[in-house]
Amino acid sequence: MSQKEEDLFTHQDTLAQLHESLPLSDKLRFLHQTIRDDFSFIDRLAIALFDEATDTLKTYTHSTEGDDSPIAAYETPLGAAPSLRAIMQHRRPRLVQDLNIFAKGTHEHTKRVAAKGYRASYTMPLYQSGTFIGFLFFNSLQPHPFGPKTLRQIDIYGHLISLMVINELTAIRTLMAAVQAARNMTHYRDIETGSHIDRTAHYARLIARELAPSYNISDEQIEHIFLFSPLHDVGKIGIPDNILRKPGKLNDEEFKIMKTHPEKSREIIDAVLKDFSLGTFGHVNIMRNIAEFHHEAIDGSGYPRGLKGDEIPIESRISAVADVFDALTSRRAYKAPWSNDEAFAMLQRLADTKLDRDCVDAMLKNTDKILEIQQRFRDEEAI
Ligand code: C2E
Ligand code: SIN
Ligand code: SIN
Ligand code: FE
Ligand code: FE
Repeated sequence: MSQKEEDLFTHQDTLAQLHESLPLSDKLRFLHQTIRDDFSFIDRLAIALFDEATDTLKTYTHSTEGDDSPIAAYETPLGAAPSLRAIMQHRRPRLVQDLNIFAKGTHEHTKRVAAKGYRASYTMPLYQSGTFIGFLFFNSLQPHPFGPKTLRQIDIYGHLISLMVINELTAIRTLMAAVQAARNMTHYRDIETGSHIDRTAHYARLIARELAPSYNISDEQIEHIFLFSPLHDVGKIGIPDNILRKPGKLNDEEFKIMKTHPEKSREIIDAVLKDFSLGTFGHVNIMRNIAEFHHEAIDGSGYPRGLKGDEIPIESRISAVADVFDALTSRRAYKAPWSNDEAFAMLQRLADTKLDRDCVDAMLKNTDKILEIQQRFRDEEAI
C-alpha cells in the first residue's frame, strides 16, 4: 500500500472479529469487552432460550463462560418465573435497577443471579419474525446503573446479539432438517424410532450436564450435544437392508460393512454442511465428532480409528454411553430389550474398556432421571 492509500485504512472496524467463524459464546464475550469500553458497569451478558413445546427456559450462553457462572446448565419452567413471563407477555424489556427488590421469595433463577452479587439487570425479550425465542440479560454488579441514554445504546447491541442468536439457531435448524430429510428418505426410520432418537438425546444431555463442571462443558456445548447426538447413526442409511435388519448375529464380513457407518455419518453431515454453506457455524465439530467417533473405545479397540482415552472427544464418549444404553434397553432385529438393571450392570462392566468411566458414572448417578426419560419417550409400537 502506498502511504496515501494507507491513510484511508487507519481505522480498524471495532467489531471486525464478528466476521470470523466463532462459537456464539466467543462472539458474545468479544461484544461484551467492546460494550464495557463504553459501559464499564455491565458485568455480564447472558442468553436463555425458550422451548415452546415444554414451556421451559434454558440457559444458553453467557459472556462469563468458563468462569464461575451463577446459572450454568439450568432449566426452569417459565411458569415458575412470573417476572420473566411478564416480560414475554408485555413484549417489553424489563429494567430492575436494584435486584434487592426481589430479595424475598422469588424463584431460583433470580436468587442465583443475586447470590453472585449482581445488583441490577436489563432483560430484553428476543423475537424471531415476531415469535418469542428467549431472553437477553445485561447484568451489573452496581445498583442503578442504567440511564435512558445508556439504554438506547444498549438496545442496539441487544438487537445485534439477537440477530447473532437467530442466525445460529437458523443454521442449526437447517442442518437438522436436512439430515432428518436424508433419514426419512430411507428405510432407516423403520428401525430407529422417533422415541429412540429422543431418548438418546436426553441421555446425552444428562451426562453432559453432570460432567459440565469438571470437564468445563458450556451450556452451548451441552445444547449441541443434545441436538446432535441423535444423528450419530445417520450413516446407517448406507448399510444394505440384509445386514441392517438381519435377525441374527452378523458374520465378520457383514460386521466389516456395518463398521463403515460412523464414517458414512460423518460424510453425510459434511455434505449437508457444504451444500447449505453451514461449515462456518460455531460448533460443527461437535456434530462431526459424535458422528465419526461414537464407536471408538477407551482401550483403543473401537472403530473407525482405534483412538484411545481422551484422544476420543468428550462429546463422542458421551454419546457412546447414551447410544449403548439405549441399544441395550431397546428391541433390535437381533436382540430382545434388556432390563435397566441388566443394562446398568453392562455399562459398569464396559467402563474403562469400551466406555468412559466418568460418562458411565454420570448415567448411573441419575437412574431416576433415566426412568423419567424412558417414561416420557416410550416406543410407539407395542412390544
Ligand atoms: P446398535 O444396535 O444401535 O448398537 C449400538 C451399540 O450398542 C453396539 O455397537 C454395542 O456397543 C452396543 N450393543 C448393542 N446390543 C448389544 C448387546 O446385545 N450386547 C452388548 N455387549 N453390546 C450391545 P456395535 O457392536 O459396534 O454395533 C454397531 C451396530 O451394528 C449396532 O447398532 C447394530 O446396528 C449393528 N449390529 C451389531 N451387532 C449386530 C448383530 O449381531 N446383528 C445385527 N443384525 N446387527 C448388529
Ligand atoms: C446463564 O448463566 O448462562 C444463564 C443466563 C441467565 O439466565 O441469566
Ligand atoms: C429474573 O427475574 O429471574 C431474572 C434476573 C436476571 O437474570 O436478570
Ligand atoms: Fe452407531
Ligand atoms: Fe447407535
